[in-house]
Parts: sequence; structure tokens; C-alpha cells
Amino acid sequence: MKGIILAAGKGTRLYPITLPVCKPLLPVYDKPMIYYPLSVLMMAGIRDVLVIVPADERQPFEHLLGDGSQLGIHIEYKEQKIQRGIADAFLIGEDFIGDDSVCLALGDNIFYGPSFRRKLRQAYKLEEGAVIFGYYVSDPRPFGVVEFDQDGKAISIEEKPSHPKSNYIVPGLYFYDNQVVEIAKHVQPSARGELEITSINNAYLEKDSLHVIPLGDDYSWFDAGNANSLYEAAGAIKAAQRSGKMIGCLEERALKNRWITIDQLVERADTMEKTKYGEYLYGVAAELEDEV
Ligand code: G1P
Repeated sequence: MKGIILAAGKGTRLYPITLPVCKPLLPVYDKPMIYYPLSVLMMAGIRDVLVIVPADERQPFEHLLGDGSQLGIHIEYKEQKIQRGIADAFLIGEDFIGDDSVCLALGDNIFYGPSFRRKLRQAYKLEEGAVIFGYYVSDPRPFGVVEFDQDGKAISIEEKPSHPKSNYIVPGLYFYDNQVVEIAKHVQPSARGELEITSINNAYLEKDSLHVIPLGDDYSWFDAGNANSLYEAAGAIKAAQRSGKMIGCLEERALKNRWITIDQLVERADTMEKTKYGEYLYGVAAELEDEV
């Protein structure tokens, strides 16, 4: 399975902050926003990642993440020249996806919760159809909204409905089989002129091959696309990390996946030893060394 991070939004809802710097590079507490979706892809077991960046903005992303080899993964970059919507990711990524299945993560969506890895690993095994998630929010109107029947089966998905049929939104993490590329080619632009991810999900729903996994209220999810949610997400990460466990630590994930060695992790820690992040990496190495 391939992974795509769509990090191409201009972040207009965060102007003037995002005039000189792209939204996914902004800090969410102690690390760049894009670390969170990348760590989710890595947690799922994905090692081949395409990062879709805004036109002419490749350099800062490359500066941050390089070719991924420091994490034992492979990262490529492509630009989205025109903002055509989320489903455009599958057209931009067509060659990268090849004959594989694909997981798409939105660059500004942050998730964490218990047994998330197990849920992601299940979705990673997907051979046919699509897997998406449902998350309860008090105001679902700005999002894709999924309606369930009495048996918990998804029966409709609507993008930004004024009268939502449920409080369950579809967060920005989607697993699809290879058919998604063909489906994306036939998506028509919506009233807001975008190729909507909801159209893709509806195509799978019509074929009865859409699985929606609910994330309970022990999960946290943020769309860090405006000042309030960005602030809220940063506060939540800070609070959650008080347990001593870091959320979105890429090197720790790479080590746990056995994609890098303890020595490689320590090498990374050496480059940021004066920060809490660096200190945390040394701690991860020490803990694992004790286990050996
Ligand atoms: C997009 C999707 C929407 C989804 C949301 C999650 O909304 O269109 O279905 O629920 O991301 O963050 P947008 O960011 O385009 O408003």
C-alpha cells in the first residue's frame, strides 16, 4: 500500500500566518503539523509516501523530511498546481500509486487514540473496497457527514450539509483499493468547484464496498485548519504528552517498525539534543537498549 499526504492547501483560513509558510509546516505544539499525518501512515505500516505540496513550495518540505531515508521510508514530492480538491490527489498520484492500494491522509488532520495502530493495520490489509472513519462532533456542518442505519451500516455521506443527518464526520484519512484512480477520473467538480473526496466515498458506498470504522470518544481528532482548532490541537497534544508518551514522533515510530536502528535514532537525536524532542529520542533509545 502506498501513502499520500495532501499538504497543498494554501491555508487561507490561517492568513496572515500562512502567507510566508505553508499550513502543514506550522507547529502544533512541539513539532510540525505534517509529522502527525506522516506518523499515522507509518503506524499503518506504509513506507512509500508521496507528499503533495503547493506550487513552488517543494523546498521547505524537502528540507524538513528529505527523501525519508532517515526514517527508513521513501518520500517523493509532487506539486498541486491548481487547487482542484482532495480527490485530485489520486490524479496527481496516479503513477506513484501504480497498481497498488493507497491511503490518503490530509496534511492538517491530527488523530490519536487507544489501539489506533490495530485499526490502521487492519485497514492496511485492505484488498478490495474502501475504509474510512467516523468521528462524533457537535457541529458537523463544515465536514463530510456520514449517516448510519440501525445496524451501524453507512447509508449516506454528504459534504458540508446545512442539515446534517448525523453528528458523525468523516475525518481526513482514507484507505482505497486501486480502483480509486479510475473513480477519481470520473468525479465531477462540486458547486464549490472541487473534486470532492465525498464523491469518491459515495462511489464506493454505491458499490456497497465502503467500510466506515467509528472512532469512539476516547479518540481525539482535529482539523487544524483555522486558528481556533490549531490552538486547541496544540493544547490537546501538550496535555496528552504529559503522560510521557509523545504523539507523532517519527523516529520512534520508525524504530518500533524496525525500519531504523537505535544508532540511527540516536544520530537523529544528536541533531536536536537541546530540545525536548531530542531528549525524548534519547529516552526511547535508552528504554529499548534496556530491553535488549
Ligand atoms: C475536507 C473534506 C471533508 C472532511 C474534512 C476533514 O474538508 O472535504 O469531507 O470531513 O476535510 O478535515 P475541507 O478541508 O475541504 O473543508
